[in-house]
Amino acid sequence: MRTVLVTGANRGIGLATCKILKKKKYKIIGVARSKIKNFPGKFIECDLSSEKEINSLISKVKKLNITCIVNNAGASFGQSIDNLDLKTFDKSIQLNLRPAIQLSLGLVKNMKKNKFGRIVNVSSRAALGRELRTSYSSAKSGLYGFARTWALELAKYNITVNTVSPGPILTELQLKNNSQNKTYQKKYMTQNPMRRFGSPEEVANAISFFVSDQASFITGQTLYVCGGMSVGHAPI
Ligand SMILES: NC(=O)c1ccc[n+]([C@@H]2O[C@H](COP(=O)([O-])OP(=O)(O)OC[C@H]3O[C@@H](n4cnc5c(N)ncnc54)[C@H](OP(=O)(O)O)[C@@H]3O)[C@@H](O)[C@H]2O)c1
Repeated sequence: MRTVLVTGANRGIGLATCKILKKKKYKIIGVARSKIKNFPGKFIECDLSSEKEINSLISKVKKLNITCIVNNAGASFGQSIDNLDLKTFDKSIQLNLRPAIQLSLGLVKNMKKNKFGRIVNVSSRAALGRELRTSYSSAKSGLYGFARTWALELAKYNITVNTVSPGPILTELQLKNNSQNKTYQKKYMTQNPMRRFGSPEEVANAISFFVSDQASFITGQTLYVCGGMSVGHAPI
């Protein structure tokens, strides 16, 4: 049985991923700052924006033979260029980019030893550029460079490193960071070729594919789960 560690596991895309992988008989280790009831696996509380807490997390899970990591935890930091401050920028890097690298670095040795591994990063369509998202887009596009570089260095160990980039998905993050004004929402949705939000499960299915044996010859790739928004806007 393979063991998958999923960050940001207590709700949204992370929780949906844990449920799908559990059904596929993976052993699940979930990570986030707060535990939830009835989590489908072992749960470890950790503030991933703290280097010290990640180190302690790594030492707790090192012996659990983790073969797959889903670096999913994240948050959006919206600011216009006029309001942009470097403190917010650092916070975004510290949550959206740094933990993925630190955690993977702490656990990759075991994957190399096993000659098997799966690392899946959850980025965002905003990595391609989105207004008011300098800090978020910079961190999320950093995940692309990380995945593509590690894919090259780790291919010979049968370790794949891929990225899933969601578009607008109905989760707490989406509701918190975008205006809920009805006119804005309607305009936002008409820009999406599919004219709707995605569900956490639709993203989780893509993550689960990259984790699976079926994706064994795929590495360094990005899969957009965005209703077509990464291709362009819907015609009027
Ligand atoms: N929803 C979208 O439209 C969308 C679009 C593009 C990309 N994404 C990406 O998809 C991923 C999942 O997002 P979601 O939509 O499922 O959001 P969500 O429902 O807000 O979930 C975010 C998860 O990250 C965890 N998290 C946040 N800060 C953390 C910290 N400091 N330490 C540990 N865990 C932390 C949260 O748990 P705690 O708060 O309890 O720690 C939660 O489990 C994120 O990386 C996000 O950037 C989402």
